[in-house]
Amino acid sequence: MTASPLTPARLRCAHHVNPLAVAPDRVRLSWRLEGSGTGRAQRAYQVRVALSRPLGGPSWDGGLSWDSGRVESASSVDIGYLGAPLAPGARYAWQVRVWDEHGHPSGWSDPATFEVELDQASWQASWIAQDQPRGGVTPPTGAAPLDPVAGALAPAPYLRRAFTIIAPVASARLYVTALGLYEARLNGERVGDAYLAPGWTDYHQRVLYQAHDVTGLLASGENVLGAILADGWYAGYVGYDAKRAGAHYGTAPELLAQLVITFADGTRQCVASDENWRARAGAIQHADLLMGEKHDRRLEPAGWDAPGFDAAGWAAVRRRDLDARVLAADPGPAIRVIEDITTSGLTRDSNRRQIIDFGQNLTGWVRLRADTPAGTVIRVRHAEVLDGHGTLYTENLRTARQADEYVTSGGPEVLEPRFTQHGFRYAEVTGYPGDLDASAITARVVHSSIEATGSFECSESWLDQLSRVIDWGQRGNFISVPTDCPQRDERLGWLGDAQVFARTACYNRDVASFFAKWMDDVADAQLPTGAFPDVAPRLPAAFGRTGAPAWADAGVIVPWTTWKMYGDTGILRRHYGAMTAWMDFLERANPDYLRARELGNSYNDWLAPGRDDTPHELLATAYWAHDAALMAEIADATGRSEDAIGYQALNAKIRTAFTDAFVSGDGQVASGTQTGYVLALHMGLVPDELRDTAAGHLVDAIRAADWHLTTGFAGVGYLLPTLSAHGHTAAAYRLLSQQTRPSWRYMLDNGATTIWERWDGWSEEGGFQSPQMNSFNHYSLGSVGEWLYRFVLGIDQEPGTAGFGRLLLRPHAGAPLTWASGSYQSVRGPIATGWTQSGDTFTFRAEIPPNVTASIRIPSAQAAGVRDATGRTPEAVASFPGSAGTQEAVFTVGSGTHEFTGPALAGPGRDARVRRWPHQTHQE
Ligand code: BGC
Repeated sequence: MTASPLTPARLRCAHHVNPLAVAPDRVRLSWRLEGSGTGRAQRAYQVRVALSRPLGGPSWDGGLSWDSGRVESASSVDIGYLGAPLAPGARYAWQVRVWDEHGHPSGWSDPATFEVELDQASWQASWIAQDQPRGGVTPPTGAAPLDPVAGALAPAPYLRRAFTIIAPVASARLYVTALGLYEARLNGERVGDAYLAPGWTDYHQRVLYQAHDVTGLLASGENVLGAILADGWYAGYVGYDAKRAGAHYGTAPELLAQLVITFADGTRQCVASDENWRARAGAIQHADLLMGEKHDRRLEPAGWDAPGFDAAGWAAVRRRDLDARVLAADPGPAIRVIEDITTSGLTRDSNRRQIIDFGQNLTGWVRLRADTPAGTVIRVRHAEVLDGHGTLYTENLRTARQADEYVTSGGPEVLEPRFTQHGFRYAEVTGYPGDLDASAITARVVHSSIEATGSFECSESWLDQLSRVIDWGQRGNFISVPTDCPQRDERLGWLGDAQVFARTACYNRDVASFFAKWMDDVADAQLPTGAFPDVAPRLPAAFGRTGAPAWADAGVIVPWTTWKMYGDTGILRRHYGAMTAWMDFLERANPDYLRARELGNSYNDWLAPGRDDTPHELLATAYWAHDAALMAEIADATGRSEDAIGYQALNAKIRTAFTDAFVSGDGQVASGTQTGYVLALHMGLVPDELRDTAAGHLVDAIRAADWHLTTGFAGVGYLLPTLSAHGHTAAAYRLLSQQTRPSWRYMLDNGATTIWERWDGWSEEGGFQSPQMNSFNHYSLGSVGEWLYRFVLGIDQEPGTAGFGRLLLRPHAGAPLTWASGSYQSVRGPIATGWTQSGDTFTFRAEIPPNVTASIRIPSAQAAGVRDATGRTPEAVASFPGSAGTQEAVFTVGSGTHEFTGPALAGPGRDARVRRWPHQTHQE
């Protein structure tokens, strides 16, 4: 077969497709290579960047902003811009061409574009707000009926400004944000498809704005720019301290908008938020993230956002100048309606209330199509589970109301909130005259736009289901920030949860720009001492907590993971100072290299089943050593070799202190908890000669728990990887297959469609766990997802490398699986693997994208007998880490599809028959 030319495609800037506002220091370019055949590789590349005018586009022949020249390099991700300074608000086009492994050039790629964020001086807009007193500040109680809550909340302000266009428009951009939430409107249309914009940051420090291409929405003559504002994270209920209105960030929402119109003759007009705007309230009586929304649709000022509207009676706005807070282009993905779920699951509870089961615990809201007499009051409440009477179980929501209410305007209409989010599988509808028609009800699934990148399938349907349930948990909690849970009065960006789940999150979905945005929140919340916070964004009134082991360490672990998975050194460079400040903070506090001081609100191995006996200092010191090891890699990856040596030395000192304090001469780790062993082994804190013995003790500890895990948040993610890395994959499969509590399958068998917060969120004997803390959508314990990709499928990278340029494909087979297959869409393209174990034969198949090499390691009872499809023999036979007698056959390959067959491993996993377990769909 003749190979097709190697061509660059799928161009990205700062992980986005043609972004409309990007900070100059975030301009990092990437592309994927396409081309058939095997062993395809990029030998060199050339990038060129040109200013692009609204009319006429880029000029490739004139003065380029940057021409990289031919660069002899295989790099296709993380290419930093090195050209002339980028102009605020300007549009650039860029292209790339490559030379393949034979030196053949590609043509120039199709151009991609990016536009540069505004600098502070480019802002002509002012903050504006409705100039009227707002509602009260009474905190709600969980049991209170809706109306008193409504009294504590205020109507959403509608703001508008009419303006005239007389010349032909070439292009127009709307830069817009709010303290609070906004929905921008232009000439009767919604601008863009994002919800809950501008997202959550510590608004005292940083406000993100979005840029929209609104060229097509403008017309000659009168135009109207408008916005509806809501309290959101800025002025609404946030977290479990149910205070609002000024307790956290501010008391009332404000708008900042700047519409920049470029005319065909090159002149510009700017329509900015200023004293010329007018405001009033509309249909939205209140809108709150935790409480829900109330619309009186009879009060909607029809046509308010379009030309020809009489705005008599609209009041002047309050205006104030821009202040010191940072205004930055949103580096993250927009929150969108990603999917609509319909259902036929309509029932009535014991009180004859209509209950809808969407079959999936999700985050979003319900959309209803109604046709009712004007003035009908319809209420929609939401819950994750039902109680024994088929009624919504809402106790675990604590004070979050999750209720929407509509007063209809009569006739056919669509009822749907705009500025809230609910965590639910079930909805209860009351007030609707007669029976609801299932086709009139939809659950709208809402989260940050994080594209799916992982797929997993195997011979056990419950494991497929587990991988889907893990992904749904991520979807429900990646909403501007990675939250612990999406339903109760909490929904905070807990660092511990995010760090244990980060690698799983990256395999499941493209979260590169999501974590880029959130790491700014983490850095904003860092104390001057260097202590990273426990939650980010910071909630000034409620959360001063910092430094908790396994939580604050996310400040190093998340950037490292993002680099590892996406090859993104930008995030490492941006936060290098913050990370070193954290490392200095820990070392200052703990000069003897045992992390026993400044543990903050140490949560330790949070929610470990039974007793959490892991010593706090052990867990803390292990994480510190881990940070130091990662910092050495980070320093290396960013060209700071001296720092790398320093962090290696620090790691060695912590390791010695740890071993002296916690590891005995016979490989026992203090306290003997599974988490103690897992952390010590995973973080490299057991002397080499004792590693296998210590791993054996870990297996003993698991056996002593009757093959159950005893890990909480801090240990669970590393549990199965540690077992596999030490040759105990059979034990890993046995734990994973466990059906009695605590186990993942126990959750599945009892109706979980997202991962529960607690191993015993519901039990046969005790019913629901304490409503004080019992979420059914917490992704942390789903951190086992990483093992499915890295170990079961074997999609991993060579140690020390990042961005999936050099793969380590090492499948781990074991009973009860007889086959597994799946894929990961890496930054360099799709990687797919699959294996089957049939009788005495093991077959492994791998698809590798161009410009990527792989070391393939195939476990076998007799590795010398493994062959590829052409009959090639292994380059080497290695012994499998930790397992005496097990071998692996080693092959090195380039891009293309490769298949290998050989003698299967002896022992468990061989000849396994497919077992199927029945599972209920839900627990009620
Ligand atoms: C949250 C957790 C979080 C923890 C800290 C809980 O309330 O839901 O997920 O990490 O507090 O211990």
